[in-house]
Amino acid sequence: MSTAVAGPCVPPAAVLCGLAGWVPSRVVTNEHLARRLDTDDGWIRTRTGIRRRHVVDAGQATSDLAVEAGRRALASASVSRVDAVVVATTTPDHTCPATAPAVAARLGLTGAAAFDIGAVCTGFVYGLASAAGLIAAGVAERVLLIGADTYSTIVDPLDRANAIIFGDGAGAVVLRAGHPDEPGAVGHFDLGSDGAHEDLVAAGGSRQRSLPGEPSREERHFAMRGKEVYRHAVTRMAESARATLSRAGWKIDDVDHFVPHQANLRILHSVADDLGLPRERCVTHVDSVGNTGAASIPLALADAAAGQQIRPGDRLLLTAFGGGLTWGACLLTWPALPAPAPAYIPDDQGERTTS
Ligand code: COA
Repeated sequence: MSTAVAGPCVPPAAVLCGLAGWVPSRVVTNEHLARRLDTDDGWIRTRTGIRRRHVVDAGQATSDLAVEAGRRALASASVSRVDAVVVATTTPDHTCPATAPAVAARLGLTGAAAFDIGAVCTGFVYGLASAAGLIAAGVAERVLLIGADTYSTIVDPLDRANAIIFGDGAGAVVLRAGHPDEPGAVGHFDLGSDGAHEDLVAAGGSRQRSLPGEPSREERHFAMRGKEVYRHAVTRMAESARATLSRAGWKIDDVDHFVPHQANLRILHSVADDLGLPRERCVTHVDSVGNTGAASIPLALADAAAGQQIRPGDRLLLTAFGGGLTWGACLLTWPALPAPAPAYIPDDQGERTTS
């Protein structure tokens, strides 16, 4: 596929032109968790800033959320065809095959290139860079990028340290080929990793085969060393943000909104403080959805755009951190979208609360 939108010498940029989020309707509040775990609302709020999260019902999988978010993002972009579907996730429907081809098929996009990205909670920023690469190389003119995770399917419900943090959700963007200088053009990426710390965030995988006998319950479940992750998350997100700003020649005061991976509120505020950014510029809704993994940045964007907290012309700094370890950041100026980002909480069934 070819495009000539950026002129003879400048490769086309990936320009954001559609956005949506989706979370399942079942709500789990801190009070619900306190009924089955040795914890309480005050502890959870103080340590994480989270009040509630949405989780899938039995039988619902990551692709179900990804399809809903993807459908709404396509509608928001007023497009029905894309050349590639990329799903960033740590909780694919199956180890094999990837989730993206099934999502593409269910969206009527059979034939499009489709693949998953595994960079844990940094997956969406890695996905943006990959989509930008597909567009710059002329492989695709339009890409649907979805961040989707259902951590409730891999976190031990009896693990109080992790069950309080994560929620399920999906966020999606449509990117089209455009000019690097136009609003919505995503650029000035910084991406990195440090696999020496792979054990800080871990779940499942082929290593289990080297263990004698059946994998234990703990080995199958998600595990995280929270305190160490906390320290790395603050340092890496701040460093990556600074590297990106410096690459673009932006100063910290040029940033109208800082949109970090919604790990937890203390981490986000620590990163903002480290960067010298007023905390009010930090876009967050972690209180109402928890940490939704690869979905968290597009979900936060969809929420902020629907509530007009971010407006066309605003300058955004996105930054993420996740298991791997992985991290990344990028910049964009918010575009005027063809259609406003729709509400991201199911309204057809209403909200259902449950323990
Ligand atoms: N309710 C009550 N007490 C809890 C608890 C809970 N849900 N979870 C842990 N505790 C207890 C611990 O058992 C420990 O008790 P002890 O002192 O008797 O051993 C005590 O609280 C302190 O535990 P600790 O892990 O040191 O707490 P913390 O202040 O580091 O907070 C996290 C724990 C998980 C909230 C914190 O480490 C964190 O936010 N980490 C980052 C996690 C994250 O956001 N990851 C995503 C990044 S992508």
